[in-house]
Amino acid sequence: MNVSDLRGILAYIPQFREKVFVIAIDGAIAASENFPNLVLDLAVLRSVAIKVVLVHGIAHQLKQLSLLLHTDLSDTTGIGITDQKTHELSLIASSKVTFQILEALSASDLRACATNAIIAHPFGIVSGVDYQLTGRINKIDVPFIEYLLQKNIIPVIGPIGFDGEGKSYRINSDAVAQCMAEALHAEKLIYLTTYPGILDNEGNLIRELDVQAAQEFHKNFSKSQPEQLRSKLEHAIHACKNGVNRVHIIDGRMDEALLSEIFSNTGIGTMIYANQYESIRPARKKDIGAILKLIQEPIESDEILPRKAVDIARDLQSYYVFELDKQIVGCMAVYPYPKTSQAELACLSVAKSHENQGIGRKMIHYAEKLASQQGFKQLFLLSTRAYVYFMQKGGFKEADPSILPLERKIKYEKTGRNSKVLYKPLQ
Ligand code: ARG
Repeated sequence: MNVSDLRGILAYIPQFREKVFVIAIDGAIAASENFPNLVLDLAVLRSVAIKVVLVHGIAHQLKQLSLLLHTDLSDTTGIGITDQKTHELSLIASSKVTFQILEALSASDLRACATNAIIAHPFGIVSGVDYQLTGRINKIDVPFIEYLLQKNIIPVIGPIGFDGEGKSYRINSDAVAQCMAEALHAEKLIYLTTYPGILDNEGNLIRELDVQAAQEFHKNFSKSQPEQLRSKLEHAIHACKNGVNRVHIIDGRMDEALLSEIFSNTGIGTMIYANQYESIRPARKKDIGAILKLIQEPIESDEILPRKAVDIARDLQSYYVFELDKQIVGCMAVYPYPKTSQAELACLSVAKSHENQGIGRKMIHYAEKLASQQGFKQLFLLSTRAYVYFMQKGGFKEADPSILPLERKIKYEKTGRNSKVLYKPLQ
């Protein structure tokens, strides 16, 4: 770990202090080998005054019970019909998981408490189908949960709701977690699953989606993707629309999964967010130090033309920085050549720790939009080593140096760097 990572980590502590995180644990995660490690992470969250509410699922345990007892279940998710027998097994499965969690928390000296804070009604009869003991959440007993949090007690909530007549109902745990996060105005909702996060159609992890993008993505969510993820994505979108800033879908089987997601600015899973997360903005004077740090290595390896603080300060209006949660992780300059309606993209650099996450591509895209809005017809760049990247990822084409504006051509010849000249027409 280097010091700048540490700065990033520490910056999150005041941001998350005293905030409520609802953490939803799939039944399979509570049963996984990594579960004790997850509880160690919870202890770390508590030690920095993050208020934790745990919600858990039971599908995994229910399936195990049905195998063990050779009984069929009417449903394992809390979405379908819950008949009497399935409900009884749900109660057994739920207490089993709750106690497993309580045991693990005890081992870390964390005080916790099982509750009856979910007030539920029967789901009812829909299109002629009676859902029997499947419930829907009517309300969350917020004062009760807040009381526990205030006393430093971790509420542990199973997927069972209670009505005023002493009856209980089976509820889907993703929905419980979403409602809980909304009711408590939680800062975060974190789903710990057995998947790395949401994957795109090529199977690549999607690191983040703002709510609008998540909605678009959900519309086209391929049928081949696992139902559990669809459910999480759906609930994540709802939660974000109802005031939860960030929802994370991460792999609970990974060691330090929670800490890596919460305290690094790129995380390890998928984040659906409703508040400011990443932005590209014009550089300010106080960013010069960060820019110099970003370009130091590329300058040493002859990728970027050497420049000093005074050079950056002089051309500051041409520089832009890429921020993730206020930490600068990328920079670039866009120089105008109005006489020939060209703009130059220069000094593009992304922090080593943030490579291969699409940041460079986002900056190129931003530069294109910016230059085109300012009326430029072409974006060009000079590159000694990264030209393949610009051609493959940025859609640039190689050109003869004669396309350069005269003043730039003179400089190009003077440096003798013999860079490749690339260009891209703008709309
Ligand atoms: N650590 C930050 C947070 O918890 C950012 C996490 C970003 N995660 C991601 N998958 N892009 O809010």
